[in-house]
Amino acid sequence: MNSVGIGITIIGSGSATANQILTNDDLSEIVETSDEWIQSRTGMRERHICSADDSLANLATQAGMRALEMAGLAPTDLDLIILATSTPDDLFGTAVKVQSQLGATRAMAFDLTAACSGFVVGLVTASQFIRTGVYRNVLLIGGDILSRWVDWSDRATCVLFGDGAGAVVLQGNDESDRLLGFEMYSDGSLNHCLNLAYQGETKNLTTEKSVGQGNYQPITMNGREVYRFAVAKVPEVIEKVLFKANITTEDIDWLILHQANQRIMDSVSDRLKIPSEKVISNVAKYGNTSAGSIPIALDEAVRAGKIKTGDLVVASGFGAGLTWGATAFRWG
Ligand code: ACO
Repeated sequence: MNSVGIGITIIGSGSATANQILTNDDLSEIVETSDEWIQSRTGMRERHICSADDSLANLATQAGMRALEMAGLAPTDLDLIILATSTPDDLFGTAVKVQSQLGATRAMAFDLTAACSGFVVGLVTASQFIRTGVYRNVLLIGGDILSRWVDWSDRATCVLFGDGAGAVVLQGNDESDRLLGFEMYSDGSLNHCLNLAYQGETKNLTTEKSVGQGNYQPITMNGREVYRFAVAKVPEVIEKVLFKANITTEDIDWLILHQANQRIMDSVSDRLKIPSEKVISNVAKYGNTSAGSIPIALDEAVRAGKIKTGDLVVASGFGAGLTWGATAFRWG
């Protein structure tokens, strides 16, 4: 039993990615770019993208079902479903659709928006409900379909993103606590660096009263600023988590960073002196799947037999907001 409440174990993971694979060569037919430029600047070779008839609800449901199977739980065992996403099918919430598709009839379900930090923020949010004894079984899904919101004529951003979802099942227990610590931050003064913003025009309702009506505009990003921010803040937040949890970088078995760019991952692991064999990367295959990136990488590593029961995993997310955070946990 943990001193601050009920202990937490992550008992299952799952993931789902879209069927279409968009290669760097495909991209060079769409914008002026090359496989060489994309690979050398980002480490990406291809990404999975959804077609118009795919939905975030379907990707999230598949990932969630796989996580439940690994956990050995039925959907009706779930008390809560959190869907971390910035690209819901419905702005009123997509988690509820996932709840219904899973048949998780007892669970409350809601969306959480924290861009590429969404999975870490979601994990911390889920843990609060468990620690306080309110809920026992929580399904956390991180997923995004950023291809819907990319400007496909902007080579600086369209090469970076892919679609996908990953999930974990967290469970409260009285015997042990496997969630060792977390830290989260946001700095809204840097909000302009990365946006998927609403833009509306005035619509007059009466001679004196008007409203704004419009739509969300494609992603804009100051890549260099976000890069600088990530390589400065991510090592710092990880060191804070380690310090609070009374562990060192040598204790880490696996580092899973938000899969935004291989160069960012290399820089962060170099600064922390964590050998590259301990850094899990699938950015070459999936690009940046936003809230999906950490849980997809986690799930692949678990299913490949890399991450084993008891291994110490440190995960860190960062991105739009700007927001960033990290968490340390023992798997299984
Ligand atoms: N192909 C060819 N050339 C390109 C491309 C492209 N796809 N994109 C940009 N260029 C050009 C630019 O126009 C520029 O040309 P110029 O020097 O003639 O002006 C040159 O390449 C260099 O551009 P930079 O932006 O300086 O390239 P950089 O080395 O910084 O790499 C990148 C760009 C990959 C975007 C990098 O800055 C990066 O990864 N930033 C962080 C992004 C990130 O982590 N985002 C997380 C967001 S997650 C979320 O919350 C959604």
